[in-house]
Amino acid sequence: MSNPNPIGIFDSGVGGISVMKEIRHLLPAEDIIYYADSAHCPYGTKDPAFIRRRIEKVTGFLTGFKVKIIVAACNTASIAGLDFLRQVFPLPIVGMEPAVKPAASITQNGKVGVMATGVTLAGDRFHSLVSRFAGNTEIITVPCPGLVERVESGLINDPETERLLRKFLDPLLSSGVDTVVLGCTHYPLLRPLVELIMGPDITVLDTGNAVARRVAQVLTEDNLLKDNAGCSREMFFTSGNPDTVGRAISILWDSPDAEEVKHEKL
Ligand code: DGL
Repeated sequence: MSNPNPIGIFDSGVGGISVMKEIRHLLPAEDIIYYADSAHCPYGTKDPAFIRRRIEKVTGFLTGFKVKIIVAACNTASIAGLDFLRQVFPLPIVGMEPAVKPAASITQNGKVGVMATGVTLAGDRFHSLVSRFAGNTEIITVPCPGLVERVESGLINDPETERLLRKFLDPLLSSGVDTVVLGCTHYPLLRPLVELIMGPDITVLDTGNAVARRVAQVLTEDNLLKDNAGCSREMFFTSGNPDTVGRAISILWDSPDAEEVKHEKL
């Protein structure tokens, strides 16, 4: 049986588009509704209780469209409130965590850098991830204040963004890591710059593709996939400025025209 209801995806802003791209690629038939909470972005410097209040509102908004699954396309929101969301909403919710486990298994020299927000790096979920899967690995964490804001403005290929990235990546280069984890969904959108700075010998990991595979698995197991007939569509909403967010999304989504984004203050 086919289920035509949409997938709901949210992030503090446009970073979750990096995850949405992977979901679109894997599940071309599905309709997707995306909410960017850009008026409250970044989440990474906010109090976790505030983040939980926001994601409860955003998830409530998405369930109004009868979404069949929620994707918290935000490491910060997942670390701060995934368990809470699952207690409040009776539908499948897929969250994210930095790729510490795969990084610990592929590192050759036992040194891994993790770029993420301050809230993610301070969270119990993150510490538990490190102690469960990376006990023998040296994990060097790098909070990257200011980077999310560059991506929000669509400045992904920009000299100032590169300067900021070099500032965060230099300590990782000096400590000799051979693997870097992009632990925030905004950062995969800067992957070409990160790879340029880190050089060809360093592996750069993110979890967008793994999350998309998990979404496909849940929809398959729960018999919730939409059939392939007809075309799929995307709808974008934001609490921020719809023109600014629309321009950033069209750059990140590789669409020729600014995406139509509806303003929805929650
Ligand atoms: N994109 C988000 C993440 O994955 C949050 C960035 C922020 O709002 O600080 O962590």
